[in-house]
Amino acid sequence: MSGIQSAAWFRVRQWIRFYSTAVTRYQIHSPFVFRLTEAVLEDKRFFQAFGEIERIRREMLGSSLEIDVTDFGTGRNRRRKLAEITRNAASSSSQGRMLFRLADWLAPRTILELGTSVGIGTMYLRAGNLLASMISLEGCPQTVSVARSNLDLLGVSRRTELVTGPFEDTLIPALEKLVSPDMVYIDGNHRKKPTVQYFETCLPYANDCTVFIFDDIHWSPEMEEAWSFIKDHPRVTLTVDLFDVSLAFINPDFREKQHFSIVPARRKFWRLM
Ligand SMILES: C[S@@+](CC[C@H](N)C(=O)[O-])C[C@H]1O[C@@H](n2cnc3c(N)ncnc32)[C@H](O)[C@@H]1O
Repeated sequence: MSGIQSAAWFRVRQWIRFYSTAVTRYQIHSPFVFRLTEAVLEDKRFFQAFGEIERIRREMLGSSLEIDVTDFGTGRNRRRKLAEITRNAASSSSQGRMLFRLADWLAPRTILELGTSVGIGTMYLRAGNLLASMISLEGCPQTVSVARSNLDLLGVSRRTELVTGPFEDTLIPALEKLVSPDMVYIDGNHRKKPTVQYFETCLPYANDCTVFIFDDIHWSPEMEEAWSFIKDHPRVTLTVDLFDVSLAFINPDFREKQHFSIVPARRKFWRLM
């Protein structure tokens, strides 16, 4: 079996494991988690921004533009098609809608994103909450300029700062500028060590309302280990795993640590109690 096939199998197995233990809104007793599920998973409203962001995605997918991309694994630059980057790196539309609803419902005053890429996640977060101060970090300069034009096209570049450079140099200055991020979306380097390191770097700046959003936690055994570490972390008081995105809260008001895996009720329509 090739590396790609075994990675795909791993994800399928993780989905089955997630699905078999996941609950729906009908089995949730925590009022906060119930309201979160209603707002983020069960809300079917279609906002104009969804259509506009997906139109921008389609334009990039149909583009023949090639850009120089800095690979953070090897440190080398290589020429890549914008369409391929959009297909492989950007948040999906369902993830984007969740990000939009999280930014809308949780109403953070400050948002920090690690990994802008071409700006799909940035646009969904920004469109969901036009008032928050937002900083998004990206290491690759040419990718940042694509993201910047996309934010301009959507008309949401105001109050959104895109910072270019390795997280290792940009993360602490961004945290100091925001003072205390209410929402941190960690979607940069999908390996255990950096994921845990970025989380721990942000923790001293976090406040009781801060939510950490992780992408692709079920992507690889390493990312599963990162998620276990985060769930067990003494400052984490509540986790909500929605498979495509996974949330960690540190609010001490959630006195008894709880972990939820949740699917929309239609995915387990027979479970009404
Ligand atoms: C998965 S993409 C981000 C997708 C985006 N958040 C979205 O929702 O559409 C990850 C991005 O993180 C950037 N990245 C990875 N490691 C980095 C590092 N150490 N410093 C800066 N950028 C990095 C990559 O260049 C890539 O564009």
